[in-house]
Amino acid sequence: MKTIVCKTYEEMSACAADIIADVMKKKPACVLGLATGSTPVGTYKELIRKHRAGEIDFSAVTTVNLDEYYPISPENDQSYRYFMNVNLFDHVNVDKAKTYVPDGTAADPDEACAAYEALVSKVGPADIQVLGIGQNGHIGFNEPDSALEVATHVTGLTDSTIRANARFFASVEDVPTKALTMGIGTILSAKKIIILANGAAKAAAVAKMLEGKLDTSCPASMLNLHADVTVICDEAAMGQ
Ligand code: GLP
Repeated sequence: MKTIVCKTYEEMSACAADIIADVMKKKPACVLGLATGSTPVGTYKELIRKHRAGEIDFSAVTTVNLDEYYPISPENDQSYRYFMNVNLFDHVNVDKAKTYVPDGTAADPDEACAAYEALVSKVGPADIQVLGIGQNGHIGFNEPDSALEVATHVTGLTDSTIRANARFFASVEDVPTKALTMGIGTILSAKKIIILANGAAKAAAVAKMLEGKLDTSCPASMLNLHADVTVICDEAAMGQ
């Protein structure tokens, strides 16, 4: 894995946006694998700035998001669909019909996951996948477990993730306890991966990921199987 350690969150965001912009310039009809959470917000802001400056064009781009809470409606301001609209899609010239997020309203979530897996392989694989990392080393919503899922699947969220994400909801009881998420295999199918981490709370997970071992208690460590992964983090996240 290649690592880039930045002084500030702004520097990290600019670095990630430069890498994504480079993919978009080389291949205007590219597929961007996108992530939610607080970490990539700065990267999306920088992509919006580049778009307004005429540097990048989203008109031919397709996007596939990693995950979505379940059940949740796209109108819920904590849904990942809503997040993507507000933080990126509403501000660039992407065709919303070509932006995909797993369906948090599906009557049959397993069927929705199978359909999403098929969709990602049909439109994809992603030319670049953006990832954040959970404090417990999760990627997407692939939580630490004795066995990790390969394909898109329904998952239960760990108490630690529910507590970490409660800051965005009115109360901890409002955090959905399930999610639909790309599996480790879906994520690894991307041609290029960048994983972003800032702050000391991520330092242990980042250290474990960089040990170079495949440890299912740190799902991000599975990225060691991929030949083109860049870790972009600040000094605090690299602290351990
Ligand atoms: C969430 C998301 C992940 C994200 C992670 C970290 O639960 N499912 O895709 O990377 O947790 O979030 P944050 O960037 O807010 O720390």
